[in-house]
Amino acid sequence: MELELLYEGKAKKVYQSDTDENHLILSYKNDATAFNGEKKAQFTGKGRLNNEISSLLFQALDNKGIPSHFIERLDSTTQIVQKTDIIPLEVVIRNIATGSITKRLGIEEKTPFEPALAELFYKEDRLGDPLINDEHALYLTDIKAEELAGIKEKARKVNTALTEIFAAIGVRLVDFKLEFGRNKEGNILLSDEVSPDTCRLWDIETNEKLDKDVFRQGTGDLITVYEEILNRLEAQL
Ligand code: TMP
Repeated sequence: MELELLYEGKAKKVYQSDTDENHLILSYKNDATAFNGEKKAQFTGKGRLNNEISSLLFQALDNKGIPSHFIERLDSTTQIVQKTDIIPLEVVIRNIATGSITKRLGIEEKTPFEPALAELFYKEDRLGDPLINDEHALYLTDIKAEELAGIKEKARKVNTALTEIFAAIGVRLVDFKLEFGRNKEGNILLSDEVSPDTCRLWDIETNEKLDKDVFRQGTGDLITVYEEILNRLEAQL
């Protein structure tokens, strides 16, 4: 039976599960985009790598007491998740300055942030996902002030947990982006994906970039570095 396609994003397709009304099937695509979709390419194997990496990381977070929408990996490119309505906010946590913040605020590359810096972006392609503040987030979404404080606190816990998970495989977690959704009970749950598409990951020894920046900047082979992350996680987790 063909599953009902509910939504197609830049990196994933979202299907309704045919066995449980409250479950979705996420299908990871081979497409890579950058700069709000201006740069595009396809990489054979990317969907499998991100599905496997994201599945391992959501499981590892769950083991550290941080639940998410993730239920189980179904096959090489798909996973079953709890159905949530995505809140159109991107929560970015930065441990080291690089990327947009260095340009926006003139902060020198590689400056460490202690404590980590949390930023909010409004998830709206039409506007190029602008940086917003808490008041904008409360105005633009249905989120309440306590919930916003809650997702920021959760994002910091994810940072602590992921920093440990990556340190164990010789990788520095530089920054990352999270999305949250609301389930049918109205509870907010960590959703979307955690992968080299959504994290900046640098080798601790060499500072080699092991994430989507190799595609954004055209400095390396995306599949090689994503495979490196998956191999190291599989050996460790
Ligand atoms: P930035 O430095 O470009 O703002 O990116 C911060 C982090 O967020 C980085 O780990 C990459 C991730 N990210 C996404 O996952 N999706 C996006 O659309 C963007 C712009 C960044």
